[in-house]
Amino acid sequence: MELAGNSGGVTLDQVVAPRRGSAAWWNARYLSRDAPWDTGIVPPEVAALVASARTPRGWALDLGCGSGVSSRYLAQHGFRVVGIDLAHTALARARAAAMAESPAAYFCLADVGDLSFLHVRAALALDIGCFHSLPPERRPQYVRSLADHLLPGACYLLYAFGLAAASDESAPGVGPRDVAGFVPYFVLCGVQHGRDRERASAWYLLRRTVTPLRTYPNNPARAGL
Ligand SMILES: C[S@@+](CC[C@H](N)C(=O)[O-])C[C@H]1O[C@@H](n2cnc3c(N)ncnc32)[C@H](O)[C@@H]1O
Repeated sequence: MELAGNSGGVTLDQVVAPRRGSAAWWNARYLSRDAPWDTGIVPPEVAALVASARTPRGWALDLGCGSGVSSRYLAQHGFRVVGIDLAHTALARARAAAMAESPAAYFCLADVGDLSFLHVRAALALDIGCFHSLPPERRPQYVRSLADHLLPGACYLLYAFGLAAASDESAPGVGPRDVAGFVPYFVLCGVQHGRDRERASAWYLLRRTVTPLRTYPNNPARAGL
């Protein structure tokens, strides 16, 4: 886009460079259609979880919901859904699409690192490509806040890239230390490794513990579901 007035042919993206991961950066990606994840397709992993017997209906959270494709799918399958994203561009698309077909999907402009504005505890949470882009120092607060807003036994499905090369520290990624960060509040039920756009990636299925694991150090069986 060329700047108005006497810009000397300078384009907007030469003047404005939003910080990677900021709301402005995500909005710019949606506006410029540089959003390869936004395919309009519900991941089969989401559909499989919804179809499985382990997900009783109730509230569901879609963290970093983008244009709301998975949120709407959950709403169409019996959940009351709160989709959360910091990109208003994506949320506008999510709301417009939900208006007609998914009345039980609500969309909030908020940061997933602090869910204190939510007054529900959910039976299911999804995070498809959001957690892995949070800076490492913000991840523990995300985990605690999410744990506070899930019912005991709730499922949490996380999709993330693996760790990037050390030379690209700002690239999204999740490593063993991040997965371990969930353990005080969650049990890891399964991991499915794959590749996505030439990066290692994985689907993690976790379940909110009924009681924090550390309460039963000698009896892990009691600490599970
Ligand atoms: C890779 S996209 C995935 C979007 C969606 N889950 C999907 O599968 O299409 C990541 C999304 O997370 C959102 N996001 C990133 N950081 C966030 C934060 N701190 N709080 C809320 N949303 C965030 C972005 O705006 C973007 O929509």
